[in-house]
Amino acid sequence: MISIKNEEALARMAMAGDLLAGVFEKLPSMCCEGCSTAELDSFIEQELSNNGLLSMMKGYMGYGHVSCISLNDEVVHGVPCEKKKLNTGDLVKIDVCAAYRGYCADMARPYFVGFVAEDNPRRVFVEFAQRALDEGIREARVGNRLTDISAAIQREVERGGYGVVRDFAGHGIGRRMHEDPEILNYGKSGRGPLLEAGMVFALEPMLTMGGYAVYVSDDNWTVKTIDGSLAMHVEDTVAVTKEGPKILTRKSTCGTSMVSGDRL
Ligand code: MF3
Ligand code: CO
Repeated sequence: MISIKNEEALARMAMAGDLLAGVFEKLPSMCCEGCSTAELDSFIEQELSNNGLLSMMKGYMGYGHVSCISLNDEVVHGVPCEKKKLNTGDLVKIDVCAAYRGYCADMARPYFVGFVAEDNPRRVFVEFAQRALDEGIREARVGNRLTDISAAIQREVERGGYGVVRDFAGHGIGRRMHEDPEILNYGKSGRGPLLEAGMVFALEPMLTMGGYAVYVSDDNWTVKTIDGSLAMHVEDTVAVTKEGPKILTRKSTCGTSMVSGDRL
């Protein structure tokens, strides 16, 4: 069952998203040569607590950190580690889910360590993934069906010639990090439940520069591409509203947190 959030729940989720987006604004300068992914995780843990956010990851199925930090061919669920130090040119995907007064926001962003030119194929790939997410978000509107989101993401990913990872998906979100429905990043449009105002989704395309096959590495968490190709992951929490999709995990330019979120 897909839960419909009332005004109060939506306001808290918007606040969670706004605060979390604020934490992410501090991350680019942290992603530098020599920094370990464990140090990044500690920094995020401190920032969550400074902002009154509760980590939804730490303790989830025995997970011991507040973020997932996935490097290069790691797609998602990279486990922060003292021994994993960033090198120039690395692609770092940081994923954090946290709650404000009982309601969650889930967000992931990519960062390159050091400068990567605009026409570098790895940067083009990253920008394609971000566009694929935006294409999916655009379909999160009243009257559409769930797989309109899936199909829009797949269309954009494959337009770039990239692979869509099949083994993981986006999800509903609310009091819990993972709620119904599961939102695949591929498939035919026009299927599944009708979208209604008050539904909130975490949309998260996962892409590869090569084949889409992945495996879980021997730490039992980190998901990697089988062919070693570069992987991307980006995620936003999006509310379906009468006025259209409202992105809760991007800071609004016009100020107050209760009305935060960019409208597409
Ligand atoms: N935030 C991730 C997601 O998008 C979940 C991470 S799993 C965890 O679904 F155990 F690491 F929290
Ligand atoms: Co998620």
